[in-house]
Amino acid sequence: MAGPAMTYSMVDYADVQGLVRFGYGRMTSASYALVRVKNVAAAKAWLRAAPVTNAVEQRPPPTTALQIAFTAPGLARLCLPPSVMEGFSREFRGGMAQERRARQLGDVGNNAPSKWLWGNDGQEPHVLVMFFAEPEQFDLFVQTAKGNTWSDAFEEVTWLGTSNLEEHEPFGFKDGISQPEIDWDEQRQTPCKQLEYTNIVALGEFLLGYRNEYGKITDRPLLDPDAANAELLSAVDMPEKKDVGRNGTYLVMRQLEQDVRGFWRFLYEQNGGNLAEVAQLGAKMVGRTRAGDPLVPIQTEPIAGTDPLTVKQNQFTYEADPVGTRCPFGAHIRRTNPRNSDFPERHPSALRRLIIILGFGPKGFYEDLTSSVRFHRILRRGREYGAELRPEQALEPAPPNESPRGLHFVCLNANISRQFEFLQNAWIASTKFSGLTSESDPLLGNRISIPGCPVTGNFTMPGGSSLPRRVSGLPQFVTVRGGAYFFLPSLRALRYFAAPGNP
Ligand code: HEM
Repeated sequence: MAGPAMTYSMVDYADVQGLVRFGYGRMTSASYALVRVKNVAAAKAWLRAAPVTNAVEQRPPPTTALQIAFTAPGLARLCLPPSVMEGFSREFRGGMAQERRARQLGDVGNNAPSKWLWGNDGQEPHVLVMFFAEPEQFDLFVQTAKGNTWSDAFEEVTWLGTSNLEEHEPFGFKDGISQPEIDWDEQRQTPCKQLEYTNIVALGEFLLGYRNEYGKITDRPLLDPDAANAELLSAVDMPEKKDVGRNGTYLVMRQLEQDVRGFWRFLYEQNGGNLAEVAQLGAKMVGRTRAGDPLVPIQTEPIAGTDPLTVKQNQFTYEADPVGTRCPFGAHIRRTNPRNSDFPERHPSALRRLIIILGFGPKGFYEDLTSSVRFHRILRRGREYGAELRPEQALEPAPPNESPRGLHFVCLNANISRQFEFLQNAWIASTKFSGLTSESDPLLGNRISIPGCPVTGNFTMPGGSSLPRRVSGLPQFVTVRGGAYFFLPSLRALRYFAAPGNP
């Protein structure tokens, strides 16, 4: 890490892949090709010619987009020397399927990499090619982008199709509402003390080569200049070095199969078939109703960085619900974004802050969130797959050989370990989140016993004036079917990787 104060130029959007800035929501058709390099020269030639979409805002917006990312074995296959590889983060180099890492992520039992359809040993992709288009243009776009050298260059590990459930994930809840707002112009000073929840997050949390929430620049490969890397930008903190990471970021991909029938059947049985209560339990587990409304009131006071289009469903914190009577602590969205600030108390004095930092503050169990969320935000860019199944249909018997459905979860972050892995491990999989016991994320938990916690399948809804309700025996609703860590390079770095005979 490095961190001297300095001024930054504006981001060169033409050098950034568009997915960092846009979700391409209007391009409702998408596919992910996970490929291995068959022939290095042919692959490099294809990559050099690929029409990768950058992050410059276009009017009218484009109707097709192509994005490219690499795993560590993929970069090694393109002959990137070990000295460059070593500059990438440990988790990227080790990969998602590493045994120790799999345990941390909850990828054991049915989630174990040995059972994955792709991404485990021998099935590890080298390159992820993401195709997005408006539906009527999709097939032609894929065909044209692949061109006639695709099959000389690559062999497909798998081709992941997606479906369009109109902004809903397969359980039927509205998705894609809450996203962090990137501080593209670096207006916010970091490091700073954040006394109120903010949705604005430092650019360096999502792009390498810029200042992060700690006011530092995340590690990435830095090279001595030579003829091969001449086109790369210089590092802002070490101008004598070329920065391979700048304007790039890490991309996490996980294929998460959802048992939609199992989910609604369980809720139905728990509530003796009372449909209003079924809907309410589902909402408590997610933290939002199926229509996307939060369970705590929307506040009138603005929250910095709230997208004006989502104010009605996203301008809230959990301050008005300190014991979780409205939105349980264990709800998926409260776990993945507790919307806290750096201090449990809103405006502590300097002395109070010191007391809290030293760990002597009051320990209400709801204050036990341990870490400020601004260090753990992710940009979600996933897409769903499989056909729609409404809750009432989910109760009917399944047809034979039903096709699976789920989420191709994709997120972007500059530090996989502090952002995605922290969320997945400390907040989603942890059975002790926020003073809870015997439960993990109600949607995502694998329900497997862990040392010191034999039962992990509970879900607690604190009561206000009434008694709390606890649901037990939650089955596993989501199973991991594949996954990998990728590096989504800047366009300059992509050209550097793909140069003939380079590096
Ligand atoms: C099949 C698996 C999953 C399902 C069905 C699911 C579903 C949802 C839904 C319905 C929302 C609320 C809509 C919104 O605010 O956009 C949401 C929000 C969110 N999810 Fe998930 N999710 C899944 C996996 C994950 C994973 C693996 C992570 C992270 C490791 C994650 C992180 C988040 C975050 C950060 C939010 C936004 C919370 C907020 O800011 O309020 N989700 N998810």
